[in-house]
Amino acid sequence: NRRGGSWGGFPMKTISLAALTFQNSALILIMHYSRIMPQNGTHRYFASTAVLLNEVIKLGISLTMALYDMSSKLPSNTSASDLFGSLFAAVFTGDSWKLAIPAVLYTAQNTLQYAAVSNLDAATFQVTYQLKILTTAIFSVALLRRSLSMRKWGSLILLTFGVIIVQWPHGGDSSSFTALQEAQSQMFWPRSFEQLRDLGSTAAQELSKRSATYEGIEEDVAMQNPVLNGTIGLAAVIAACVLSGLAGVSFEKILKDSNTSSSLWVANVQLSFWSIFAAGFIGVIFIDGEKIAKTGFFVGYTWIVWTTIAFQAFGGVLVSMVINYADNIAKNFSTSISVIISFLASVWFFDVSITAHYLLGTSVVLFATWLYSSNDRMRPPPIRIADYE
Ligand code: C5P
Repeated sequence: NRRGGSWGGFPMKTISLAALTFQNSALILIMHYSRIMPQNGTHRYFASTAVLLNEVIKLGISLTMALYDMSSKLPSNTSASDLFGSLFAAVFTGDSWKLAIPAVLYTAQNTLQYAAVSNLDAATFQVTYQLKILTTAIFSVALLRRSLSMRKWGSLILLTFGVIIVQWPHGGDSSSFTALQEAQSQMFWPRSFEQLRDLGSTAAQELSKRSATYEGIEEDVAMQNPVLNGTIGLAAVIAACVLSGLAGVSFEKILKDSNTSSSLWVANVQLSFWSIFAAGFIGVIFIDGEKIAKTGFFVGYTWIVWTTIAFQAFGGVLVSMVINYADNIAKNFSTSISVIISFLASVWFFDVSITAHYLLGTSVVLFATWLYSSNDRMRPPPIRIADYE
């Protein structure tokens, strides 16, 4: 029973959802801190190495669970070599290459998440990241031929409005007005071509200013320009939402289309296997290879970076469990609670000032998420004429 299972008397569905809510809040806070923390003269760690190590840890967890799963299904006198042989056969079936598609998409998504969290505060990131509900819905309709009720479409439009309110430019108003919002207002909605051109040259100047040199290697130091931070962060989070929707839906499509009943853990092993290729060859070798060759792979690693990686690996495992024991909608619902936790923690830990726009937009986003996730079936079915004939 895919949805069954319990641990210490609690249903797995409840445990995995509660754990995902906690993980989602904690991950973004610690990841944000790991990107902005003082470097004490060392090069900041490379996000590409963190994305790779995340996959290595996930592969280790998934392999262990797949072996455990398999050993419980095989006769008790099965030898270790037969057990490993069965696992090998299950992982390297003719269809396993298909997992390369979500693997590449998830790897890009994880990389963009680092870029977004480096440039946006945790609270703004979390609200804007809720747009993945919209992208997931659009890809589900397009690729899985799902149909959505009018209420779901309505709540998706509301969700988008909520995010626009959070990001909306606003000027002049009083105490809650922050430099970031002012900068964003100029950045996102240039009123004329000249403004757009000025913006481009400011961005270019800033980029060259904020490049620091560490033993001859350029790196992006913690940025001072909120204009650029907001724009890079917003672009990264929107791209991550598109990738999240596409990766999730393609993963689901592969699982549903396949006629083999491979377990969740075998699918996760296949996914991690391809992700390691993508993260290793594209991220670590192709993009950052030259710099890493000079600084070393583990430059800038502290216990905070390791905790970030561990939290992300743990989160990936939880996401797959939530999809297995509950579903994608429940997953998005649980992460919406993280929006509130991140909001409180950002004010507390990072001294982020919260605006009226933020509060209004976040309320709209949370209401839309609730509306989307609440069960359509709770309404009585429409009366059909045929019932009376
Ligand atoms: O919900 P969201 O799309 O943001 O979550 C995606 C995250 O879960 C990514 O970090 C991805 O690597 C991870 N994941 C995983 N295994 C799966 C599905 C997703 O590790 N089977």
